[in-house]
Amino acid sequence: MKKQQKITWRSPSNIALVKYWGKHGVQLPCNPSLSITLENAFTETSLSFKAKIHKSKNISLQFYFENKTNKLFKDKIVRFLAQISSTFPFLLDYELEIHSHNSFPHSAGIASSASSMSALALCICSMEEIILGNKNEIKQADFWQKASNISRLGSGSACRSVYPKIAIWGRTEVVQDSSDKHAIPLAENKIHPIFQNFRDSILIIDKEEKKVSSRAGHALMNENPYAAVRYQQAHKHLGSLLKAIQNGDLDIFIDIVEREALTLHALMMASKPPYVLMKPNTLTIIQKIQGFRKETKIPLCFTLDAGPNVHLLYPQNVFEEVKEFIKNDLLSLCQDGKIIEDQMGSGSVEVSA
Ligand code: PMV
Repeated sequence: MKKQQKITWRSPSNIALVKYWGKHGVQLPCNPSLSITLENAFTETSLSFKAKIHKSKNISLQFYFENKTNKLFKDKIVRFLAQISSTFPFLLDYELEIHSHNSFPHSAGIASSASSMSALALCICSMEEIILGNKNEIKQADFWQKASNISRLGSGSACRSVYPKIAIWGRTEVVQDSSDKHAIPLAENKIHPIFQNFRDSILIIDKEEKKVSSRAGHALMNENPYAAVRYQQAHKHLGSLLKAIQNGDLDIFIDIVEREALTLHALMMASKPPYVLMKPNTLTIIQKIQGFRKETKIPLCFTLDAGPNVHLLYPQNVFEEVKEFIKNDLLSLCQDGKIIEDQMGSGSVEVSA
């Protein structure tokens, strides 16, 4: 009997600056998006596999999240593996065992689908390399592209998580090689030094699971009267933001990033039925950030995910001032005084056994 083999990948979460909101076909975006890859918020996933003794046409999986079985997650993963088994037919020939955990608490109000689905996709792509016998020590560009493509099928935004620093997903005229099917990394020489190690302090306003899922939110864009204008705006924002990131223009960066965050929530409020994911403290914090910036000229801005938590974005060189501001003015508005400190990260890594 063949012995069991094991692969482990660690993959981070990401925070979008130009938001993906609205999709079509098989998880294809209605507009291009851009995100910062994070460092500290990650999922680590191990995949062990052993040839089945009795062949079957089903996925055979044992799944453990934080060392415990989890039926909800397992069912979701079995569906995903069955979906991608046309690309990876060998998935049906092995007994699979997956162990997964996050670096951040599961119910902290941080979405884990980007980090978890990208970590899983990377494990499957590595498994393919082992099975086909072309395991590369130095990963080729097409490996990452495939991993990004498969991550996208698990959760759209996950496709951006595999790359370091800044990633772009979605076809746009302004970026050569951009694609709806996978993300691409932004070249190092297109990122001004002021954006290197950019920080993201995540203020947890509410840990509760959101009332309207991202899946439902994307679907509501189909009937949103502002959808067409929004998709055009995203293309424009992406072009301007890329220039600002290359030139180190923090004023333009802040203007676009905050407009994107508020547009995302405005789209939710203009959906049918309308819904609001921000909480009163989300708005209080936004106003405090804008007041602080006006008063001190410190280039601190915010973005929001599809939820009430506030991501505070700022250059590394104002870390001390922002830390004081958070402590004195914002911490008391966070649930249980909870914040998660993060920063621009180096992308997914394979963890050796
Ligand atoms: O990847 P999904 O389907 O969870 O959608 C993510 C949507 C946003 O987080 C709101 C925006 C984005 O681009 O990540």
